[in-house]
Amino acid sequence: MRQEMHDRTVERYLTDAGYKLRPGSLSFLRRGMMGSHIFRVDILDNHGKQFVPVIFKYHNDHHLIPREVEQYRRLKGALNEALVSLRSAGRNHFLIIEYVPHVKNLADLLREGKEERDEDAQRAVRTVLQFMTFAWTTFSLHSPTGVPTVYRTTLQRQRSGKPFGDLGYQLKRMLGRLRSLPVVVNGCDLGFTALDAINEIHESFYNRRLLNRELLTHGDLNPGNILVAKGGAARIIDCRAVQCDEVGEDWVRDLAYLARCRNTETLQVCEGEALHDSNGKLVLNYEATFARVTEALLKICRDHGTKMSQRKELCDPEWEQRFWLHMAAASIAELRHLRQRLRWEVIRGFPNLPTFMLGEAFLAVQKAKEVKRK
Ligand SMILES: Nc1ncnc2c1ncn2[C@@H]1O[C@H](COP(=O)(O)OP(=O)(O)OP(=O)(O)O)[C@@H](O)[C@H]1O
Ligand SMILES: [Mg+2]
Repeated sequence: MRQEMHDRTVERYLTDAGYKLRPGSLSFLRRGMMGSHIFRVDILDNHGKQFVPVIFKYHNDHHLIPREVEQYRRLKGALNEALVSLRSAGRNHFLIIEYVPHVKNLADLLREGKEERDEDAQRAVRTVLQFMTFAWTTFSLHSPTGVPTVYRTTLQRQRSGKPFGDLGYQLKRMLGRLRSLPVVVNGCDLGFTALDAINEIHESFYNRRLLNRELLTHGDLNPGNILVAKGGAARIIDCRAVQCDEVGEDWVRDLAYLARCRNTETLQVCEGEALHDSNGKLVLNYEATFARVTEALLKICRDHGTKMSQRKELCDPEWEQRFWLHMAAASIAELRHLRQRLRWEVIRGFPNLPTFMLGEAFLAVQKAKEVKRK
């Protein structure tokens, strides 16, 4: 059973925290993939003169909200105008976010697939990359301008110590006896087993020397967190500190998440057979369709990564390998969230979504291996 949040609960939270609401202005906007509840509501401004529209955001996991607030504070110095401003309230159980009118998030924009807005999408991604470059290159977490690394550990939930929490377990169950079989995705034999791929992802994220560049990052820079206005102006929302026992602070992670414009959120059709075992191989077949512009966006991100990695202060020859592994990890994480939220209930129109996510993860690992060999 999904836990829904009712208007009366939202009203109570806001009133308890001292906000005055315009009666009847509360409306439910959406529920995020990660389980946030997002409402729009008018509240009386600080001067008590007029009502202003804001976004109310709540998450059942009370660790997420403080983490978002903290990462927001850290990034604010670097990004300032690029970030949509927010306030936490009460006991940090919810956020009040400035409402930005007449925008779409990039994922929605791409899903709609209106070609006349492709330019907007590309301009927005370029703008965001410019903003983020400043944070990535200027603000090291160890530098006096950054927040000491210690902060990260204090904010984190105690975890089991296993990489990706219970992900390994979930995948083990899912793949079962198939995991030691060589993988074939859409007719292409990848030349490694499912288990190899998962190990590759896990090992790379344990290898701090390779991954942890200690630079200030957004943490969840995906297309759903970029608000795009007509004309391609962009604002960033929803920053989250990365848990250091998961993947480390890595500018390439931000870049890879942004580059995942070809992701489930922008998927238009996904047909095909689900995964099966055939002639001693793990076979995944799916046919996915995305907005045409998503390939162009991927290219913009990769080109930017190449430029970034050549900068003297970064000098990062392994960036592209990490880029693909972050992509793979993101697909796997999505798979896990889907499983938690839907318990394998089939999404109408997308019966092969789990196959697709697993396939995308394996293909990304293949790319990482190709780059490594070069
Ligand atoms: N200030 C805003 N102005 C306009 N729309 C907004 C604003 N904030 C959020 N939204 C809309 O709500 C969506 C979700 O917001 P947000 O990214 O903060 O939630 P979320 O935490 O990502 O949800 P989840 O992580 O659970 O998927 C955004 O993609 C955007 O469409
Ligand atoms: Mg978001």
